[in-house]
Amino acid sequence: MIQQKNTEARPYEPAKTPVFRRLTAGSIKRRKGTHLFPVVTAYDAPFARFAEEAGIDVILVGDSVGNVMLGYDETTPVTMEQMIHHAQAVSRGTSRAHVIVDMPFGSYQVSDEVALTNAIRLVKDGGACSVKVEGGVHEADRVRAIARAGIPVVGHIGITPQTAGLGPGYKMRTHRDRLVADARAIEAAGAYAIVLEVVDAGITREITEMLSIPTIGIGSGPHCDAQVLVLHDVLGIYAHSPSFAKRYAEFGSQAIDALQKYAQDVRESKFPSGA
Ligand code: KIV
Repeated sequence: MIQQKNTEARPYEPAKTPVFRRLTAGSIKRRKGTHLFPVVTAYDAPFARFAEEAGIDVILVGDSVGNVMLGYDETTPVTMEQMIHHAQAVSRGTSRAHVIVDMPFGSYQVSDEVALTNAIRLVKDGGACSVKVEGGVHEADRVRAIARAGIPVVGHIGITPQTAGLGPGYKMRTHRDRLVADARAIEAAGAYAIVLEVVDAGITREITEMLSIPTIGIGSGPHCDAQVLVLHDVLGIYAHSPSFAKRYAEFGSQAIDALQKYAQDVRESKFPSGA
């Protein structure tokens, strides 16, 4: 006897695995004026996961990777390949956080086309949710070109470390009119947030009140919508933390301590046990 196939259609059942959606640039923008929020840098999967588990949902893959991970004195030598490599790791280590990735020096200054091509690489190859560009009035066209292509952009004014060592230095920025013009230009170009690095606290307050996008401060006082710190400063791993950074742990000395104990155990035949 021929068996009849059961042709009755079964209702579609969606996959049981949870689908995590990352925080969007739009929701970060809408935080303006609602609540203060923390941002931290991360450069690899485990520490990005720690940040996410600690409830920090905006993570910056900063080109400070050059200083704190790669041993350079400046961020200037950092390449696109290095940023993509670290961005991929942070992206793999997180599932919900919004991952901002820095555009390194030389990846956007030349032309709108170069800037957009590299921003697209950071999104497609690096897994960036948005990108960050250093500079004010002079980089506004680049911000506009990237934002118009649908890639959310964060601006960065005040001390801009990629070029600070080439001339302007690392002193607090106090030139009110220039800073206000830079902030306005970056907002008008379509950035959804802006980093203010080592800007006078009074000027920072004025800019935060003036803009409709969140300001993310670093060394710029309390009047910002968010604060960002470099992970290695927070954890006490980097030897040269700036004075404004707060070290919440001393992982560097703990690491040396642990390694000394391990080395001693090996030398004294205490590890592995039973030796
Ligand atoms: O590269 C970085 O870590 C940064 C922060 C200091 C804002 O740009």
